[in-house]
Amino acid sequence: MYLGLDLGTSGLRAILTDGEGAVLGVAEAHYPNPHPHRGWSEQDPADWISACETCVAELRAAHGAAFAALRGIGLSGQMHGATLIDAQDRVLRPAILWNDTRSAAEAAAFDADPMLREVSANIVFPGFTAPKLAWVAKHEPEVFAQVAKVLLPKDYLRLWLTGEYVSDMSDAAGTTWLDVGKRDWSQAALDATGMRRDQMPELVEGSAPGGMLRTALASDWGVQGSVVVAGGGGDNAAAACGAGCFAEGMGFVSLGTSGVLLAARDSFAPAPESAVHTFCHAVPDRWYQMGVILSATDSLNWLARAVNSEPGKLAQALPDRASGPGDLLFLPYLSGERTPHNSAKLRGAFVGLDVAQGSEALTQAVMEGVAYALRDSWEALKSTGATLDSVLAVGGGARSRLWLETIASTLNLPLSLPASGEFGAALGAARLAICADTRADPADVMTAPEVAEVIEPDRDHVAAYEAGYQRYAALYPALAADAERAA
Ligand code: XUL
Repeated sequence: MYLGLDLGTSGLRAILTDGEGAVLGVAEAHYPNPHPHRGWSEQDPADWISACETCVAELRAAHGAAFAALRGIGLSGQMHGATLIDAQDRVLRPAILWNDTRSAAEAAAFDADPMLREVSANIVFPGFTAPKLAWVAKHEPEVFAQVAKVLLPKDYLRLWLTGEYVSDMSDAAGTTWLDVGKRDWSQAALDATGMRRDQMPELVEGSAPGGMLRTALASDWGVQGSVVVAGGGGDNAAAACGAGCFAEGMGFVSLGTSGVLLAARDSFAPAPESAVHTFCHAVPDRWYQMGVILSATDSLNWLARAVNSEPGKLAQALPDRASGPGDLLFLPYLSGERTPHNSAKLRGAFVGLDVAQGSEALTQAVMEGVAYALRDSWEALKSTGATLDSVLAVGGGARSRLWLETIASTLNLPLSLPASGEFGAALGAARLAICADTRADPADVMTAPEVAEVIEPDRDHVAAYEAGYQRYAALYPALAADAERAA
């Protein structure tokens, strides 16, 4: 039996699988994501541990005998977050998350050094880990002085599970400290950003062992044998493992808190100037590229809070089928944007509001705005030479048929809907655990899911979504200018 744990931004998802990756049970626990100041996004690492305990208790209650036969755990997690611990493994401050842009000035200063793009294969985005540490050094020097290790969120969970400081290549690729081509910490990048190698965890491949479950925990959990904890992966690499995306032409669109359009690549082909992310995959010798937008379902969550509703209710109030874009435009830059704009200052907008419009028009505009932002990512990916024949749709937002149809027509790409079941990051994590335990070839374990249906772009509406996208793209310069004025 194997456990896949996906430590997301809104909660932790745990799945229990057998040795073939067939799912026996699923549990989820949620935690808050406070934004104490404009541009800030934090979490209490203790909440991640409690969520893991809750999920394990739930899975044990429902599948006691299977859980007792656990052999491996795989970890997936929200990327880039800085969890700072002292020499006694005490957490020094709330974790600073991937969608926190407080370190924009530090990121821009690092990004001006061409060596860092060269080594890390990416722009130094404010959401990445290295600039967060520079912010802490400047604004909280007493905290910075005590930093013994910097751990990514899933690797802090691993520390609790195993007592070891370990990360994997795919997650480490989002720190700016990794030489993404060589798959090792870069001394030059560490030196240039004021960090030491001893503050970094050890590195393993995602499909390799990355520690053993502590015996005390194994006995608390009623587990009989020893349990390996795989290296695991950043959530997008893990989702690619769950969806079987490894070869050129394969990819997925993920509608989570962030929005991601990911393309597997056959070679390492960085193109930082495009604001596309180039990261190590969670299996050896492979890389992938993706465009990342900061507010996908987060935009719908925001709207739901603003109109005192719930995201599911807003989505349900709309028709099931997409019939062309509305007049109202939404630009989803609620926390700034990564691909293609790399701006922490940029903020969102509704444009074209009419006195006759209500919350339904706002919801439709939010979904379309996210689709247009993903189209920006698709254009950026194409500029790097990435190809996609069709993409799998994953993430919570993929429950909305309307949203998926809108995205298919806006990207002009067929979207494949997996047959029911798990195929996301938690499954990818469990599959990495299977590989770490059995040493099976990842290619045999990480197959593509059965496709239940393909949503084709709607030929009658592609031109209208194209026109909508052009309107959307034309508004960006005005918002960029406004962000400069406000700053
Ligand atoms: C990727 C990124 C997000 C988080 C969300 O670069 O920042 O997709 O991994 O969990």
